[in-house]
Amino acid sequence: MDCIQIRGGTPLKGEVLIQGSKNAALPIMAACVLVPGITVLKNCPDISDVDCMCRILQCVGVKVKRQDDALLIDASKVDSWRLPEEYETRMRSSVILAGAMLGRCRKVCLHHPGGCVIGDRPIDMHIRALERLGVCFEQTQEGILGSAARLAGGRIDLPFPSVGATENVILAAVLAKGCTRITGCALEPEIAALCNFLNGAGARIKETGRGCLFIEGVERLRESCYRVESDRIVAGTYLMGALAAGGDVFLRNAQAGQLECVLQTARRMGAVIRTEKSGVRVVRGGRLTAPERIRTEVYPGFPTDLQSPMLVVLSQSQGECLLTETIFNGRLAVAEQLNRMGARIVVEGCNARTKGPRQLTGCCVHAGELRGGAALVLAGLCAQGNTEVYHRCFIDRGYEDIVRDLRSLGADIGVKT
Ligand code: UD1
Repeated sequence: MDCIQIRGGTPLKGEVLIQGSKNAALPIMAACVLVPGITVLKNCPDISDVDCMCRILQCVGVKVKRQDDALLIDASKVDSWRLPEEYETRMRSSVILAGAMLGRCRKVCLHHPGGCVIGDRPIDMHIRALERLGVCFEQTQEGILGSAARLAGGRIDLPFPSVGATENVILAAVLAKGCTRITGCALEPEIAALCNFLNGAGARIKETGRGCLFIEGVERLRESCYRVESDRIVAGTYLMGALAAGGDVFLRNAQAGQLECVLQTARRMGAVIRTEKSGVRVVRGGRLTAPERIRTEVYPGFPTDLQSPMLVVLSQSQGECLLTETIFNGRLAVAEQLNRMGARIVVEGCNARTKGPRQLTGCCVHAGELRGGAALVLAGLCAQGNTEVYHRCFIDRGYEDIVRDLRSLGADIGVKT
């Protein structure tokens, strides 16, 4: 089994190019189902979740080809509305194909999506919102069957700004008859990316206020070419790496505007952050000071996806912090592995109390999910001796090559097969 080996103790130094965004690419790939022609997606990250989405698209008749950093997605023909359970249960984002398939075929058969094991991940909001557009769902032996004789615009007020549910409604509404008003939408940058892509292909989506979208259904979408933006979570992970291990790192293509809360937190802790048009520079010389509190929040708050990497930074910072996870209830599981390496994290429900600084010691640890796995690699960077991170397949879901990237920053890191 592949494992990542790290010999800790080297500060990070240099420049790393931030890959395309996973969470922007996946819904846009789903959106391609709505285009009866070829879409070119540039800067599409070469990660296993994107591969999984390609497989699902191929199973419904879409042709997908990779050409360098671009994906060519030809949805001239969609000949099945049955999503393949095997791939769907591997990846949470497969659920956003529901809206796209309904828009294209007026029918879809899906299964409860998989994804990272980070707590309860129901899809009730997706289902209820799509019902407002005229979709009927029933549980059949094959899976959850959704069908709509006619998709019609409607008013939808999301009870929580769920990223996936917002994306699903947008995808179902762009080709629906009439207009749709959605309130309570997620504000994450990936929503804007999806809307920009769809508008570029001929959709009519307007932002009418904070969290409010107005969508005028159109007859047809057209072929287009779109460049996926850089991944704010990958940028944030490497930034956390520099905060944890120390050093001087330039995150090329990182978008400071999307990382504001994270950059503010890093500055408050004592890091020097310089933002430029072409990226973000982070410098950590001396010891950082832990803030009293951090709470994960929906955008623009502190991202839940960077909570586990932050635990590693806190283990290297002076003082105590109360970190509260408010989005996913199972996301503090990585604390146990970090404690095995010497961190002092006490978890009670959705709260983690951390105390630092602690000298971490390398050992064998197991990634259990994507961001927690990346956090273990960061812990290895600041641990004494050798760390082996097993189950790297979880990390490969979202990072093109974390080993290549960290090695380019001077880390002593490799792969043991
Ligand atoms: C997306 C991101 C993920 C990120 C998360 C929050 C993708 C591919 N994934 O996930 O990386 O961590 O946003 O920023 O973009 N919920 C319900 N019912 C529903 C839907 C969601 O109760 O029908 C709850 C979830 O259990 C969770 C919260 O809402 O507690 C947030 O989920 P959501 O915003 O939907 O996250 P995802 O779209 O799954």
